[in-house]
This record gives sequence, C-alpha cells and structure tokens, in this order.
Amino acid sequence: MILRQFLQDHVLGRRPGSLYVSGAPGTGKTACLSRVLLDCKDKLAGSRTVVLNCMALGSPQSVFPALAQHLGLPVATGRECIRSLEKHLTAKGPMVLLVLDELDQLESKGQDVLYTLFEWPQLPGSRLVLVGLANALDLTDRSLARLGAHPAGSPRLLHFPPYTKEQLTRILQERLGQVAGDPVLDSAALQFCARKVSAVSGDARKALDVCRRAVEVVELEVRGQTLLKPLPGGDSPVSPVPKRVGLLHVSRVLSEVFGDRLAGGSRGAQDTFPLQQKVLLCSLLLLARHSHTREVTLGKLHDTYSQVCRRQQLPAVDQAECLSLVTLLESRGVLEVKRAKEARLAKVSLMLEEAALEHKLQDTALVGSILAQGLH
Ligand SMILES: Nc1ncnc2c1ncn2[C@@H]1O[C@H](COP(=O)(O)OP(=O)(O)O)[C@@H](O)[C@H]1O
Ligand SMILES: [Mg+2]
Repeated sequence: MILRQFLQDHVLGRRPGSLYVSGAPGTGKTACLSRVLLDCKDKLAGSRTVVLNCMALGSPQSVFPALAQHLGLPVATGRECIRSLEKHLTAKGPMVLLVLDELDQLESKGQDVLYTLFEWPQLPGSRLVLVGLANALDLTDRSLARLGAHPAGSPRLLHFPPYTKEQLTRILQERLGQVAGDPVLDSAALQFCARKVSAVSGDARKALDVCRRAVEVVELEVRGQTLLKPLPGGDSPVSPVPKRVGLLHVSRVLSEVFGDRLAGGSRGAQDTFPLQQKVLLCSLLLLARHSHTREVTLGKLHDTYSQVCRRQQLPAVDQAECLSLVTLLESRGVLEVKRAKEARLAKVSLMLEEAALEHKLQDTALVGSILAQGLH
C-alpha cells in the first residue's frame, strides 16, 4: 500500500518529502488515510503528526497560523508566521507529518500558499513530510507545475480512482453489516445501488447516503402502517410489517438523488457549495446568530431552511434530503451531526467560525440577501 510505504520511507526514514493524493469526492481518500494513521499510530509516536482540514479555514493564508498553533509556536501573522514556521521545520527535532485534507481550499491567486507549503520539504535541513488530499484532479498540473522544476522535490502523486461496483458492494455490505441483526437491505437492493452509483461517480458517500435514505423511507412506511393498527373488532395482530429495504425502495431513492442530476450533468462544483447546501448553511448561520448557540436540532434547522426557501422562492428539500445534505457537509468538515433515534432530533453543529463560513459563502448575491433579511 503506497500510503503506508510513503509514511514508512519518509516519516520513519527521516526523509522530508511530499505526497499529493487526488481523487473525486467519496473515493475513500480521507477514510484510507485515517485508517493508515490509526494503524501506524505506534510507529508514528516518535514524530509529530498534524492533521488539518482546510475546509475549516477562513482563507488559504490562514493555514499558516493554524499550523503554528498546532505546533505550539507563538502565533504571528503574514510573512512573520511563515518565517517562524520555516525556522521551526528546519530546526533539529522529530519529523513533522502534516496532513492537509480538502487541499483544494488552499487554491489562491498565484497559488503562493500551495507553493510555499510544497517547497518546505525541500528546504535544507527540513523535517517536514507533507501529505495533501484534494478533490480536483488537475490541481497538480495547474498549480504545482512550478514544483516540477525541482525534480528532487516535486510531490509524489497518488490517484484514487472511483470505486468499482464490486468495491462499492463490499463497502456497503460491510458498513450495513455493522448494524446488528438481519440484513437491513436485501442483497439485490444493495447490488443495484452499487451498480448505479458506480456508473455515475463511484462515490461511496453517495452510495451510503442512498442506503441510509432508503432505510428512512422504509421506516416511515412502517410507522405509517402501525398507525393504522387497531383493526376494528379484529383480534388478529397486525401482520408483520416488511422491515427489509428492497430493490424498489432503493430504486426510488436513486432516481430522487440522481434523476435530475444525471440529466443535467451538473458536475464539479467542488470549490464552492451547491445551491441547496449554501441555503442550508445560511440557515444554520442565521440560527446560530439568533439563538447564540452552535448546536441546533435538524428539525429546527429544516424549519428555518424551509422558511428561507419560501422567502427566496426557492424549492425546498424535505427533511430526509436535508439530512443527506447535512451529511455531505459533515464529510467536508463544515459541521458535525450527532445522530439521534429520530432524524428530527439529530443535533447539528457548526465546525467553522461564523466569520470563516460567511467568508466562504459571501460570494453570491443570494447569500447576502438571506443573511441580510435575518430571522423573523
Ligand atoms: N474502503 C472503505 N471501506 C468502508 N467505507 C469506506 C471505504 N472508503 C470510503 N468509505 C466511506 O465512504 C465515504 C466517503 O469516503 P471518504 O474517505 O470521505 O472520501 P473522500 O475523502 O475521497 O471524499 C465515507 O463515509 C467513508 O467512511
Ligand atoms: Mg475527504
């Protein structure tokens, strides 16, 4: 496994270097790296490991103070901060393993942030090993071309291809199998989901979301049936309700999720948030300001979001889809979800500073208008 070998060679072998991991969203970059870090925990104990999700930064430049803070350096700004980091990383000491997830977020004018970071392992006496994870496939070609000029120093590249149907099937089986008891999804349904998702994107997150959503649909159906329960005069217990998620459920969810998207072919809005996610984030931001707390229930969030959509005359998604959106945002490190028995009661909290989030959202007139109107 390349990741493991890279850490072995560079961190344990005390050779500075960099690795650039690319791949479409949901291809397992974050999952694999987390797993490798966990597996190598003991071996890496002698070095310093810093993992930063760049999605949580207010701007590309703020990666430097964030890193300084993690390394326990006095926090400075601008050039001064970069200089103190360079000094620290070329001084004697243990190897420093820096993992930057969602690296796309560091793209800046002239790409100086990325250049600076990827040049560090090449400084004389450097003890930095840098691993960057990015969703954009052409980031290196476009941005790191300049680094190619130093043959010794250009980052190693590792590409994560989309999951195949077989891999997705295995991932789904494994993840759904963690839920005790009978298989929740019947196997035809599961394979169908894997086949469809692999045909579109190979996005494991999507596949898992589709299954989760299908389970919710079935739960709703079951609840609907139990409401009808007391049969007039009947002593026969209600017939056992179908608890399994079948092909039909999955197929329905799939067409909901992919139906229009397949036709519209809207792809690659990676650097910004899709419209509905933006509106949802705005709603969360409004709620956070309004109630001075970072944590709200999904029900409350969905209410506010629906209200905002009405006011902006946008179509609103239902609560189950809202949960899927929230899950997507969670996987990008923007917020955290504490799941509850009932979706409505799940707790959603913002992981970004409000100012940082607003900065990320501020680019559209729509966002400005939603935030300016506030909550009534
Ligand atoms: N090999 C795997 N086994 C089990 N789950 C996986 C595997 N790869 C990815 N996943 C799951 O799929 C989802 C997306 O993976 P993730 O690593 O976040 O993708 P990326 O970082 O490339 O966008 C996560 O929920 C993750 O737990
Ligand atoms: Mg990721």
